[in-house]
Amino acid sequence: MTSSVSHSSSGGLHAAIIMDGNGRWALRRGLPRIAGHRAGAEALRRTVEAAVKHGVGTLTVYAFSSDNWNRPKEEVGALMKLFLAWLRSEVRRCIDNGVRVTVIGRRDRLPRLMLPAIEECESRTAHGARLHLRLAVDYSARDQLLAAARRPGATANRAALSCALGSPDVDLLIRTGGEQRLSDFLLWECAYAELYFTPRLWPDFGPEDLSQALAEFHTRDRRFGGLPAVVSSRG
Ligand code: FPP
Repeated sequence: MTSSVSHSSSGGLHAAIIMDGNGRWALRRGLPRIAGHRAGAEALRRTVEAAVKHGVGTLTVYAFSSDNWNRPKEEVGALMKLFLAWLRSEVRRCIDNGVRVTVIGRRDRLPRLMLPAIEECESRTAHGARLHLRLAVDYSARDQLLAAARRPGATANRAALSCALGSPDVDLLIRTGGEQRLSDFLLWECAYAELYFTPRLWPDFGPEDLSQALAEFHTRDRRFGGLPAVVSSRG
């Protein structure tokens, strides 16, 4: 069987992270959940810097799933404020570090104030060539797939669908916080992703954890449905 592996347009590895455990991190400290999300924003900053140093090509992070709208209004509002503040405050650092930022997911349900901030962050960082950081906000892989399939004149083949999704295949998927599920994140792109689960809560995640995940990834034998190199060369 042939695989439909497409590689990151900026070259290099595509890592994706489900940043889970902010709420529990806060709860354990007797803090409100939003304190966990704030600490999560710091963890993201550290991880982006580390990803640049490691030469990761694309990093896609799950910041807000379409199902997260079901959370209490106060938490959703605080998260949106945090995203807005992050987009404004991190632009300079991203430009300086060669990080191109794009936001994936639906935009029509986001607070209107966020749209110019997203556009400005995307355009000001557009020349970043070291790392492509993709923030998934109001993102649902199933909805993205449906939207791609419903495009007028859509062609039903793997390459066309990958192209419509506009995302390279994921090489390494990391999920923090101890749960072991995909939660509607990059379902098509993760067809051959190596999965790495860690009990570490997202606000505690740092450069060491990323190094460990990447080291583990490099020990994996990726066969994409084929045979190990040593067996196939024997015929
Ligand atoms: C899941 O943890 C995390 C989220 C729903 C929000 C992710 C947001 C951040 C990491 C903030 C930083 C991001 C940006 C783009 C500035 P949870 O709340 O479900 O944790 P729990 O499972 O312990 O309750």
